[in-house]
Amino acid sequence: MKINIIDKINRLRKERNAVILAHYYTIDEVQDIADYLGDSLYLAQKAKETDADVIVFAGVHFMAETAKILNPSKIVLLPDMESGCSLADEMDMDEFRAWRAKFPDAVLISYINCSTEVKAMSDIICTSSNAEKIVNSVPVDTKILFAPDRNLGNYLKKKLDRDMEVWEGSCEVHREYSFKAAYDLKEKYPDAYFAAHPECPSNILDFVDFIGSTTAIINTVAKRPEKTIVLLTERGVIHELKKIAPDKTYIDVPNNKMGCNICPYMKLNTLEKIADALEKLEPQINMEESLRLQALKPVERMLILSL
Ligand code: 13P
Ligand code: SF4
Repeated sequence: MKINIIDKINRLRKERNAVILAHYYTIDEVQDIADYLGDSLYLAQKAKETDADVIVFAGVHFMAETAKILNPSKIVLLPDMESGCSLADEMDMDEFRAWRAKFPDAVLISYINCSTEVKAMSDIICTSSNAEKIVNSVPVDTKILFAPDRNLGNYLKKKLDRDMEVWEGSCEVHREYSFKAAYDLKEKYPDAYFAAHPECPSNILDFVDFIGSTTAIINTVAKRPEKTIVLLTERGVIHELKKIAPDKTYIDVPNNKMGCNICPYMKLNTLEKIADALEKLEPQINMEESLRLQALKPVERMLILSL
């Protein structure tokens, strides 16, 4: 059955001249058939570079929207339109506009996990892998507004000692990590190496050994001498880690709400839905051209600053 679906995907991706981009949080089978697998920045860079006619984004809505912002003439498919992102979707736009208006001289840096509308209001976009670089690109005497993730924003504010106002958003997966569960693991595995995504709460970020994007976590922990790795991010990253550093033990920390650290939106991408999307060329991401043009500027600024 799986072989048939993979054959179908392979046939259709050729026929459609399509590229499949997948994030590390998608299910293992989807990661395995991707043309490019990576973090948000890498996938945005690949979306910008591709000469394919069709982009299938096995990720979440804001990632596919970013691909469309960069490629207005290409067909961008999101295999399941319900693949949202709590960080992006929980923003109240009236409150956000009012917050932005309170600081007219500030530079607005928005984390890529936001809607096209928020991107269009922003000066620069960042991801977890380039956030420090992007903040440092703003002159030191300029106030910065950072949205929507409060944990990443407060981490940057403290680490870089910048004058920053931080929007109170958070990710429903990472915000639920329990300090106690992580700390208990520290007692149980005193020699383990702890790595966390910057969307985790600050009391967790304060005690881990490494903080970074999904790619940075994978590349860093794979090279560490420690045999036990405790991961405070979505457990999808373990699939790639088992391929590149199979001799280690990976421990994922359960979170308070869901009992397990799984992004339900990323997991909506299945092989069947990818095959279906390639066959029907649906569901497509589309947006108003004037909005796209406004959102393009801060996305391009990010890509240039990330070179
Ligand atoms: P990365 O850019 O680090 O892959 O993170 C994306 C994300 O959605 C984290 O929750
Ligand atoms: Fe959004 Fe959180 Fe899922 Fe990342 S893990 S896509 S921030 S809901």
